[in-house]
Amino acid sequence: MDPRGTMVLRLLVCVTVVLVSDAASQKSEAYFNRTAFLPCQFVNSQNKSLAELVLFWQDQETLVLYELYLGKEKLDNVNAKYLGRTSFDQKSWTLQLHNVRIQDKGLYQCYIHHKGPTGLILLHKMSSELSVLANFSEPEIVPVSNISRNSGINLTCLSRQGYPKPKKMYFALKSQNSTIHYSSNMQISEDNVTKLYSVSVHLSVPFPSGAGNVTIFCVLELEPKKTQLLSLPFFADPKDPIPVKKDQRFWIAIAFSIVIAVIAVIAIHKRRKKQRPDISHKGETTKAEKEESEQVEESPGYATLLKENKHSCT
Ligand SMILES: *[C@@H]1O[C@H](CO)[C@@H](O)[C@H](O)[C@H]1NC(C)=O
Ligand SMILES: *[C@@H]1O[C@H](CO)[C@@H](O)[C@H](O)[C@H]1NC(C)=O
Ligand SMILES: *[C@@H]1O[C@H](CO)[C@@H](O)[C@H](O)[C@H]1NC(C)=O
Ligand SMILES: *[C@@H]1O[C@H](CO)[C@@H](O)[C@H](O)[C@H]1NC(C)=O
Ligand SMILES: *[C@@H]1O[C@H](CO)[C@@H](O)[C@H](O)[C@H]1NC(C)=O
Ligand SMILES: *[C@@H]1O[C@H](CO)[C@@H](O)[C@H](O)[C@H]1NC(C)=O
Ligand SMILES: *[C@@H]1O[C@H](CO)[C@@H](O)[C@H](O)[C@H]1NC(C)=O
Repeated sequence: MDPRGTMVLRLLVCVTVVLVSDAASQKSEAYFNRTAFLPCQFVNSQNKSLAELVLFWQDQETLVLYELYLGKEKLDNVNAKYLGRTSFDQKSWTLQLHNVRIQDKGLYQCYIHHKGPTGLILLHKMSSELSVLANFSEPEIVPVSNISRNSGINLTCLSRQGYPKPKKMYFALKSQNSTIHYSSNMQISEDNVTKLYSVSVHLSVPFPSGAGNVTIFCVLELEPKKTQLLSLPFFADPKDPIPVKKDQRFWIAIAFSIVIAVIAVIAIHKRRKKQRPDISHKGETTKAEKEESEQVEESPGYATLLKENKHSCT
């Protein structure tokens, strides 16, 4: 639309890139899919109005994010990937970049020019470096197979959609007396579209010998500031008993057999008692049996009840 303006802008970009390149840049951070704030930190000491100024932001590939030309937004030079994603905050001279993507990390520059009768004069420039973060989801422990003393512990831990790559991921097994750390290879996968990472580790170990029950945590160690993300505790409380020594086992087996034998004898005895009155009337069996089993001990009218039943059948 305005080839002359574009040319001037390009020329200025080329010149000023060189000027700015060794200036210290301010760092800023933004969360994925949120808004980044790209500063300019302009002090308007001469009280210039926007109608006299030309200001724009560009990325490290000199693609323009936003241009305000004599007080009006100008889209001609704005790169397609930034269209509709920016808003300018006049009070703080800050550009907001919305829906931040991982690909947005990098260096940005802001330029403010005064447009006078002799052309554009650079008033102010600033660079800033944007880093993008995404919080990993809380690590989640998922059992691969059921935990028992015989088959051992077999778990996977997952954490999704974070950035940048975490440092490491490991399991911590807490039993009564000790905490053991297990780290194995962390599997990392990258989402093709969002460029976010998901990570997982697998644990397959024998059940700690002699331990009653075990509490397991999964720990994700993050790169910046060495922070940690902890999973909810996973309680491994195997149903099968703690293995005992051979000689003990023998006596336990004997005791167990005796108990079984006693139970069997009692059961047979009870069954005989129950079966006797039921032979003649199948229709009422279930109901009568139910009542019997509840009333056998307490009810004194048991015998009469049986008699009545017999009557009704004949
Ligand atoms: C970004 O956030 C919006 C809502 O704020 C949500 O609907 C969308 O799914 C998010 N996109 C991604 C890629 O997470
Ligand atoms: C700056 O200029 C505007 C008019 O353009 C005026 O209203 C305002 O008072 C001035 N501010 C200062 C601090 O000079
Ligand atoms: C990410 O985690 C940090 C620290 O836990 C928290 O302060 C921040 O609000 C989180 N950001 C998002 C976008 O959830
Ligand atoms: C664990 O055992 C239960 C039965 O006790 C079974 O239903 C379940 O499918 C088992 N889970 C795994 C992961 O093997
Ligand atoms: C753990 O689970 C995997 C996948 O189901 C299986 O191949 C492996 O044998 C299991 N390990 C143990 C110790 O149960
Ligand atoms: C735990 O400690 C107690 C005494 O403090 C000890 O008797 C027991 O054997 C220990 N258990 C294990 C698994 O080390
Ligand atoms: C695990 O054992 C400890 C003591 O050894 C006990 O306090 C705790 O309640 C047990 N946890 C479960 C889930 O059984």
